[in-house]
Parts: sequence; structure tokens; C-alpha cells
Amino acid sequence: MQTTVLVLHNILRWAVLLFGLMTVLNAFTGFVKKRIFTASDNKSNLLFMIFCDIQLLVGLVLYFSNGWFDKLKNFAQYKSIPAERFFAMEHMSMMLLAWILVHVGRVAVKKADTDAGKHKRMLLFFGLAFVLILASIPWPFREAIQRPLFRWF
Ligand code: HEM
Repeated sequence: MQTTVLVLHNILRWAVLLFGLMTVLNAFTGFVKKRIFTASDNKSNLLFMIFCDIQLLVGLVLYFSNGWFDKLKNFAQYKSIPAERFFAMEHMSMMLLAWILVHVGRVAVKKADTDAGKHKRMLLFFGLAFVLILASIPWPFREAIQRPLFRWF
């Protein structure tokens, strides 16, 4: 069960990154080319939000079932160990912040009156969230916290 959830969390990261990238590219080209805000712009950021929501739920399961919350409660003891500090505090809080930006961004885009305004807000909120997500993934090249690019059951 634990492995299944971890594999899911690993794989879902690629869906989050795919739709995140599509959203940011759509926002950028829309803003630069001053084009109208289309159904496909809306769809890309909706899918980005949906996969962030699923990833948050799966992440919360891992967080509470793999003892990370207990480590947060005894943070003084773990803060000097990079991998423990990363998963107990940094990964969880940065990803939560990104998730909030995505949700606030959806509302902000909906409320913008003009197409240019929608693209601008989409670029700002989703762009920031995407950068935060990229920076908070335990990539294999980050020695102290490294995790594999792919994992299987
Ligand atoms: C867009 C959001 C997120 C992405 C892209 C993401 C990505 C990842 C990746 C790639 C891993 C390594 C998986 C592996 O070892 O194969 C991981 C691990 C982990 N993530 Fe996330 N994550 C996200 C959000 C969250 C959130 C919001 C939480 C907690 C509330 C969370 C909790 C964890 C935990 C606890 C681990 C370590 C699991 C373990 O080995 O016990 N993640 N995450």
C-alpha cells in the first residue's frame, strides 16, 4: 500500500509538470501575441489545478502515514539532517504554497475583465507556482534529498 502511494506520487509529478508547462506556455504566448483567451487556455490551467489537487491528497497520505508529521513535531531533532528537514518541512510547505497560488490564480484569471488581463494573471500565478514546484521536487541531482525520476510497483 505504502509503495503504491509513493509510486502514484512519483508518476503524478509528471502530469503536474506537463500541464504546468502547458499553462505557462499558453499564458506567455497569449500575453506576448495579445491573442484572445480561449477554451484551451482555460482547460490547461484547469487540468494543472486538478492534478495539483490529486497530488496534494496523495502527498498528505504519504506525509501522515510515513512518519513525516512526527518528525515535524520533533523538528529540533531533525532539522540538521537535510533529507529529514526537506520532507518534513520544506517539500510540504513549498508545495502547499504552490497549491494555494494555483487556486488563487484560477479565481484571479476568472475575475479579470480583459483577455490580456487573463493571460497576465495566468502567467503570474501559475508561473510562480510552476517555479516553486520545480524547485521543490527531490530531483536525482540534488544529492542530499535525491529520489528517482521514475518508480515502479
Ligand atoms: C505539486 C505538488 C507535488 C509534487 C510535484 C511532488 C513530488 C514529489 C516527488 C517527485 C517525490 C519523490 C517520490 C519518490 O520517492 O519516488 C515526493 C515525495 C514526497 N512528497 Fe511530494 N510532491 C508534491 C506535493 C506534496 C505535498 C503537498 C505533500 C505533503 C503534504 C507531499 C509529501 C511528500 C512526502 C511525505 C514525500 C516522501 C515520501 C516518503 O518517502 O515517505 N508532496 N514528492
